[in-house]
Amino acid sequence: MSQAPIHPKLWSSRLAFILAATGSAVGLGNIWKFPYITGENGGGAFVLIYLLCIAIVGVPVLIAEIVVGRRGGKNPVATMQELTEQQGLSKAWRLVGWNGIAASCLVLSFYAVIGGWSMAYIIKMASGVFTSSTPEVTSSQFNNFLASTGDILLWHSIFMLLVIFIVARGIHAGVEKAVKLLMPMLFVLLLVMVGYAMTTGKFTEGVKFLFYPDFSKITTEGFLAALGHAAFTLSIGIGVIMAYGSYLPKNISIARTAFSIAILDTSMALLAGLAIFPLVFANNLEPSAGPGLIFVTLPLAFGNMTGGLLFGTAFFALLFIAALTSAMSMIEPVSEWLEESKGLSRAKSTLLGGVVIWFIGLGSVLSFNLWSQAYPLSFISIFEKKTFFDLVDFFVSNLMMPLGGLAIAIFAGWYLPRKGLPEDLGLFNLPFKIFMFVLRYLTPLGILVVFLYNLI
Ligand code: PHE
Repeated sequence: MSQAPIHPKLWSSRLAFILAATGSAVGLGNIWKFPYITGENGGGAFVLIYLLCIAIVGVPVLIAEIVVGRRGGKNPVATMQELTEQQGLSKAWRLVGWNGIAASCLVLSFYAVIGGWSMAYIIKMASGVFTSSTPEVTSSQFNNFLASTGDILLWHSIFMLLVIFIVARGIHAGVEKAVKLLMPMLFVLLLVMVGYAMTTGKFTEGVKFLFYPDFSKITTEGFLAALGHAAFTLSIGIGVIMAYGSYLPKNISIARTAFSIAILDTSMALLAGLAIFPLVFANNLEPSAGPGLIFVTLPLAFGNMTGGLLFGTAFFALLFIAALTSAMSMIEPVSEWLEESKGLSRAKSTLLGGVVIWFIGLGSVLSFNLWSQAYPLSFISIFEKKTFFDLVDFFVSNLMMPLGGLAIAIFAGWYLPRKGLPEDLGLFNLPFKIFMFVLRYLTPLGILVVFLYNLI
């Protein structure tokens, strides 16, 4: 049988898009951040609220961003320009595209630094430095690593080179090929880790922690953290999904596809929790250890368990793969934009974008050592104790992402021509009406609440 010809600028199948978008969604957010914010916010009740936020804000914006991306069919700036010019809308809408390109570059600039840590920790784990270690050893290992500018710079650079190398090869030979290999690996590794967690004897405690809802532990902050994380984990609001959506063939219905992505992403976050918390409890460690949970607490746990060397190494390999496939998506908006608007080849545009992003990332590398006491915006009171890294994270996560998501929801809900929309989505009659109601009212309201709260 002859196969349909593969369009060079479109994903070769629905599965390829799902894998690429899930690769984008499943990242440090799922494996590093989700478990520790769940820990900080008391477990099960937080998870429930998080799921609600995925449904009300995450999935609708995900769907909207894919629709907009596919209708425009170009990089985020050109897509917004084309879709708004058709209807004589204000040029200000193009800011959604510019915001996307800027934010995705900024987010990658610091994401690649942590991606580099995950690589370094694969080797640290495998070398046995954590075997029978004590809390002092694991934390001094981490602090010494961060204090060494050369080390983190090296790993950050290697990580960025890998991202550039893969993405420069294009949608098919690069991104698709990589995610078809890496996503199954990621999934298998995650299942292996959950299996390992079952052997600790504390699995039920982990399950209870994740799923038993104790509403007395929910605070306003917890609610907002859930909403913010729902956006971050689905990669929405900053043009990444718009860029991936621009390569989506016309005949694929978007709602079903987006649901698959959200379900996969959520399952992987929950599985990561099931892999991590039993280890934490089995070693009498603190589930609410914060950002250090992965790099300090877990090595301690692995170092003191049978099979810890092997499984600890596997765990950091998992973290690295998750970070890599997310990072690949973050460079796509700028790469697509340079390619289309400056007429550069795919390889040149990815390299150019990558070098600029790497350079911005130096500020984040230094934030952990030479510049750890430098607070660039300390003259503004809310930025008083924030390093370069903290500031970039703050601007992207608290301003650019929510504003981008809000604008995309409003644009798709209120301005995008309705003609053909049910067919695009694969939603008709009542489900379509419900979806539009959520997208037009609930989603913007949800984002606005978090956004304003975060600002104050
Ligand atoms: N979703 C990714 C994660 O959970 C992060 C990400 C944000 C990726 C924005 C792309 C765009 O780690």
